Amino acid sequence: MILKDLNRQGSVTLTQQLYEQIRSLILNDELHEGERIFSTREVAGSLQISRNIVIEAYDRLLSEGYLEIIPKSGTFVAKGASIKAAKKEGSITLQGIVFEKQPTYIDFKGGNPAIDHFPRKKWAQLTKDVCLDAPSSIFGYGDPCGVLSLRKVLVNYLRRARGVICDHSQIVITSGATQALKLITELLVKKDDFIAVEDPVTDEMRNIFTNADASIFPVAADHEGIQPALLPEKRPSFTFVIPSHQFPLGGTLTIQRRVQLLEYARKMDSYIVEDDYDSEFTYEGGSVPSIQGLDPDCVIYVGTFSKILSPALRIGYVVLPKPLIEPFYSLKWYSDRHTSSIEQYALARFIDEGHLDKHVRKMKKIYMERRKVLTDALQRAFPTVHVIGKAAGMHIVAQFPGITFTKELCEKLMQEGVKIYPVEHFALNKGSHADKIVLGYGGITVEELKKGVEILKRNIQE
Ligand SMILES: Cc1ncc(COP(=O)(O)O)c(C=O)c1O
Repeated sequence: MILKDLNRQGSVTLTQQLYEQIRSLILNDELHEGERIFSTREVAGSLQISRNIVIEAYDRLLSEGYLEIIPKSGTFVAKGASIKAAKKEGSITLQGIVFEKQPTYIDFKGGNPAIDHFPRKKWAQLTKDVCLDAPSSIFGYGDPCGVLSLRKVLVNYLRRARGVICDHSQIVITSGATQALKLITELLVKKDDFIAVEDPVTDEMRNIFTNADASIFPVAADHEGIQPALLPEKRPSFTFVIPSHQFPLGGTLTIQRRVQLLEYARKMDSYIVEDDYDSEFTYEGGSVPSIQGLDPDCVIYVGTFSKILSPALRIGYVVLPKPLIEPFYSLKWYSDRHTSSIEQYALARFIDEGHLDKHVRKMKKIYMERRKVLTDALQRAFPTVHVIGKAAGMHIVAQFPGITFTKELCEKLMQEGVKIYPVEHFALNKGSHADKIVLGYGGITVEELKKGVEILKRNIQE
């Protein structure tokens, strides 16, 4: 145990300083569970302080459970007090803050990004710069639309990367795509209205609509996305699509269907809501530009930084046709005033200084590798498996001819430590996808992917 000299001039008592030093050594894993610590006499001697001070500090550590006395042996770091023991149980503590337990499943949830590659250092530096150097005003209430510099940076980024045409007044920064979709629903759906939604569709987004009491009209999607020929004859409040990489089937909407969708929206005097959540990641060919760029008056474009950076940031955005700006602005205001300004300033710099482009290039390689490992392992384990959808995003759909992914099979896999997501779960009209599952690979390491497929093989073949 190495102890630093105590500050004899400061206002903090020597007892308090010694207590904090030893407590921090335990929490930070520098003193391990079961490790014997120096006697009070040894510490008093090495720090040149009175033994009473050490006894007082030790008493406090004993009473708070950091230390324990084993008679005739000495004083030891108590069981369960060290970071190492906490980590084993799945939670981590840092300076007294406890981080929540991580699930131990190999979770094939679609759309989970590789959070282990979050650019921690750069983000820490940018947020630190913002906190230390920005004017005090940024710590007050901000504009409900979001930080102006982020919206301006986004105009250029979205034009370049996604062909989105807008000016900054049309952008509102939201707490993820989730809030954007919730507010759009509140704004556009009146009593007894309905929303046309591609089927199958992500349950999370669908639940946002139904939670707001909107009815859903399912429009079947195939390998090329939503089928405009099946759109309802009655006017929907809006049509919800994920045209770049449909979730879950993974299709990219053809230009013919995009044009048909726009014609439909114009004829019905209704909007298209375009969710563009993972389009930066394409692995064959380039990414197809947004529908918004084809008709900015007809399309509400929704984006997020949850997949490209981290869902923990809770930063998304909506690009609105001009007549919707004012009413949306009010809804955002009454919802939560605005999204965290500090994070927005850091993000604006992250994009402006080119770190986002660099991060996307890096992540593309990682996801490409993970995707290849998964598809190769699947094909080796199941020679008849069929991988559906465009090579993009962070998930595939795998079809296993002759297999039905029942609740029992999913539960059995869960007991083996693997979570899978049957496509039927996302289907509004049931019965067409019983042999297909979504396999998200973004947040799973190469080793886990291989292990996950082995577990699938063992259980599915049985
Ligand atoms: C289709 C779709 N769009 C967007 C998102 C991102 O939502 P948020 O930005 O609120 O994290 C998700 C989340 O899983 C999703 O499934």
